[in-house]
Amino acid sequence: MIVAANFKTNKTRKETVEYLKELKTIDFENVKVAVFPPQTALTEDDLIGAQNAYPTVNGAYTGEIGLEQLNEFNIKRILIGHSERRHILGETQEFIAEKFNFFKENGFEIFYCIGEPLEIRKKGIDAVIEYLKNQFRGIDLEYEKLIVAYEPVWAIGTGVSASIDEIRATHAEIRKFTSKPILYGGSVKLNNIEDIIKIKNVDGVLVGSASLDVNVFKQMIKKAK
Ligand code: G3H
Repeated sequence: MIVAANFKTNKTRKETVEYLKELKTIDFENVKVAVFPPQTALTEDDLIGAQNAYPTVNGAYTGEIGLEQLNEFNIKRILIGHSERRHILGETQEFIAEKFNFFKENGFEIFYCIGEPLEIRKKGIDAVIEYLKNQFRGIDLEYEKLIVAYEPVWAIGTGVSASIDEIRATHAEIRKFTSKPILYGGSVKLNNIEDIIKIKNVDGVLVGSASLDVNVFKQMIKKAK
């Protein structure tokens, strides 16, 4: 089981260091834990991954960081394709695939995010799968260090997760494309994590807002053990 925290644009470096210290007071046992803090809080720690980076070693990409900056902290894990980068920052599938391939070539563990908007979900599962297939374009779905995160856009930050049946059916379809772990993300909370991780083809969760409180996140990890 994999339990990952995405802080998005929350927490300072100091807060992240304190969070990690507190988080490590519990034994994770068989649960793999990952934490994606903002770029200013990147630090050398096995749990840490980058929320984003530009597919370059270094260069003229104002406002971005590249491999050189990640290497400084020995970071070998990255989130790619998150809905907020697709929809707010306007990343195209072509660019996302370029990013994926760059970090694959550099041996990163890649948490690759996919998910459909509400208007697609309303059309039914076939439309959802067609949409997700487009988000697989240019992606090696058998990359050994790939972890897929299915996050329906309409469930992210809304407090309303996809239903158990929706998660079950969608993960079963995604499983046809990859043998790698598939996480669910989108309003995963302390009160629904147990039901979600029991679902077939759910290999863990990617948690946004509920992960911001370290005590809540610790309890979520305990439930995943
Ligand atoms: O990366 C995490 C997801 O966007 C889920 O965020 O748990 O706040 O809905 P959320």
